[in-house]
Amino acid sequence: MNVVTPQRAAAPAPVGLLAELTHRCPLRCPYCSNPLELDRRSRELDTATWQRVLTEASELGVLHVHLSGGEPTARQDIVEITQTCAKLGLYSNLITSGVGGALDKLQALYDVGLDHVQLSVQGVDAANAEKIGGLKNAQPQKMAFAEKVVELGLPLTLNSVIHRGNIHEVEGFIDLAVKMGAKRLEVAHTQYYGWAYVNRAALMPNKAQVDQSIRIVEAARERLKGRLVIDLVVPDYYAKYPKACAGGWGRKLMNVTPQGKVLPCHAAETIPNLEFWYVTDHSLAEIWTDSPAFTAYRGTDWMQEPCRSCDRREKDWGGCRCQALALAGDAAATDPACSLSPLHAKVRALAVEEAAENPPDYVYRTIGSNVRSPLKEEASL
Ligand code: SF4
Ligand code: FES
Repeated sequence: MNVVTPQRAAAPAPVGLLAELTHRCPLRCPYCSNPLELDRRSRELDTATWQRVLTEASELGVLHVHLSGGEPTARQDIVEITQTCAKLGLYSNLITSGVGGALDKLQALYDVGLDHVQLSVQGVDAANAEKIGGLKNAQPQKMAFAEKVVELGLPLTLNSVIHRGNIHEVEGFIDLAVKMGAKRLEVAHTQYYGWAYVNRAALMPNKAQVDQSIRIVEAARERLKGRLVIDLVVPDYYAKYPKACAGGWGRKLMNVTPQGKVLPCHAAETIPNLEFWYVTDHSLAEIWTDSPAFTAYRGTDWMQEPCRSCDRREKDWGGCRCQALALAGDAAATDPACSLSPLHAKVRALAVEEAAENPPDYVYRTIGSNVRSPLKEEASL
């Protein structure tokens, strides 16, 4: 296994903070990128600690705070936390499923200065959406929530995570976004971390489906210019080059888990030899600059070939460390999603093979489950 030695590459100020306020969620989506071992309510940070973290984030230069989870409105103090963002001048984005108590809290969130809402939609057809999300009667709640967001004049982004269970609905997601009055739609092909990694065979579309979804998005972008912005995240396993995951390791984002562990990306805990620091022991500034997890893959010094001598190394920063660990068994390897990786052909073949088989049943996201990751068996591709 690769031994991580801390580097001291320069640390530009982070722009975004992903505040995972809770792992509790009424939905049970099989594509969730949260870890298999979810934090229980008893371990969550209290209000005062979150407020201190937000203050430190603001001092550090953070501009955007994504209030996320799980379902962030499951926290009783979501209004207080949002108000703190507003007082500090931090742009707040509520990332929500729109179910449970979300609608009841929306007016109060607006009143204290919430800036933006990102609403997840699992499908267009209600029965399909509710099968994917694992919650009956979720779709009408989401529709009512979206209506209220628009009525309040808050900017609305719809987030649709795409996989083989809903890829036939891409056109429908676009129509839905227009109908709801959303300003932006994310057509985000599943990224295989956490629960999505466990469910990969159930979620993996085939290449023809992916290509068709890209054509639909491109045509809609033309047609809806000035009315709807559509962001497209293509699936790594079929890509030519990887994405700059999290904007590059330790360059733009900090992710604080419900219990206060600070991660460079949402899946970083899957890398076994990294040391993470907690907001209860260190300031955010110390964690950003000095914590072993953030310094491990910052910059380019840690890179191996072919990344080390590649002219894209400061564009995509070698892709995703968590995916490299999962698929190559070494977090410092070139992300096998990259066509220049020696493992790329095997990874592509794996995707093709899984997409061709009948999908297994979903393993739904559950707190306290004993589901184990297949990561160790697969890391020897
Ligand atoms: Fe990016 Fe590395 Fe692939 Fe070059 S070899 S494109 S730096 S992942
Ligand atoms: Fe961790 Fe990509 S999810 S670096």
